Amino acid sequence: MRNVSRKSKVLTVSGGKGGTGKTFTAVNLAVEMSNRLSAKSKRGSLKAGNRVLLFDADYHLSNAHLFLGVKLAPCLDRFLKDPHSLPEYITSSDYGVDLISFGGDEKFINPIDISINSEVLDELRKLETLYDWIIIDTGAGLTQIILRQIIMADYSLLVTNPEPTAMIDCYKMIKFISREDQQFKYIEIALNKVQTFEEGFVNYKKIEEILAQFQVPVQIHFAGVVYRDDKLFNRSLLHGIPVVSAGGNTHMKESFNYIWDTLLKASFSKKIESFFERIFLG
Ligand SMILES: Nc1ncnc2c1ncn2[C@@H]1O[C@H](COP(=O)(O)OP(=O)(O)OP(=O)(O)O)[C@@H](O)[C@H]1O
Ligand SMILES: [Mg+2]
Repeated sequence: MRNVSRKSKVLTVSGGKGGTGKTFTAVNLAVEMSNRLSAKSKRGSLKAGNRVLLFDADYHLSNAHLFLGVKLAPCLDRFLKDPHSLPEYITSSDYGVDLISFGGDEKFINPIDISINSEVLDELRKLETLYDWIIIDTGAGLTQIILRQIIMADYSLLVTNPEPTAMIDCYKMIKFISREDQQFKYIEIALNKVQTFEEGFVNYKKIEEILAQFQVPVQIHFAGVVYRDDKLFNRSLLHGIPVVSAGGNTHMKESFNYIWDTLLKASFSKKIESFFERIFLG
């Protein structure tokens, strides 16, 4: 597997505090990317295979499947015992996004304790040769595995919101990222649950100011906003239809496309050959 080149670009969506909207954002960005690829594809359809993989890395507490209307397959434990079974646990949604989720197991496995043998790694690396995009939805908090997922990704997006505790966690998260890896100097920030674009931008500026005040050596960038819309959110969860695929969604579609436009403006260079190898093996 070593000589097979990585095709996937990796975006990690993270954010520190619980409930900032990481999963909501990751799911809808995944669906919008699939729509973009589908529109560009000469075939005009992704039936031959979805090109976006959403990797729900909120181990044991995953819920991305709820936003995509698919069932959760129990898999981490079984995958580790039988790595070749991995394709069985990839669920295709109706929205051009495949999902892999390590959240359905009864048995608790600490991701940092996962012993990755070469077979497990080879199966994970195969995913990197199949999909155009792998989007990682991390859990809340700041663990070593979350930090690695942020640092090793090609694109890193932190999702926060104007609540003071979320803002403080976002700042702390950036501080730790900058300490962990001095090479990693570019983080995108999106403000979720805002009423107006200005509200998002003003709060982004607050984060920028505090980082400058404490001379944190990291460059951040405003990726955009996601508007608070309780009605659309609840309807999406109830029906398992991502907001960007539901009706009455213009402002949501605009939000997620704005974020993609911003992310894709950054020039892409492949820093590492295998994302999975680096997050599990360090
Ligand atoms: N744009 C939005 N409009 C309305 N409500 C929202 C929006 N984004 C998030 N929420 C609310 O915030 C809650 C958390 O959203 P979500 O599950 O996406 O966050 P999370 O950061 O992934 O949480 P966790 O840390 O538990 O993984 C939702 O249940 C919903 O109530
Ligand atoms: Mg989540």
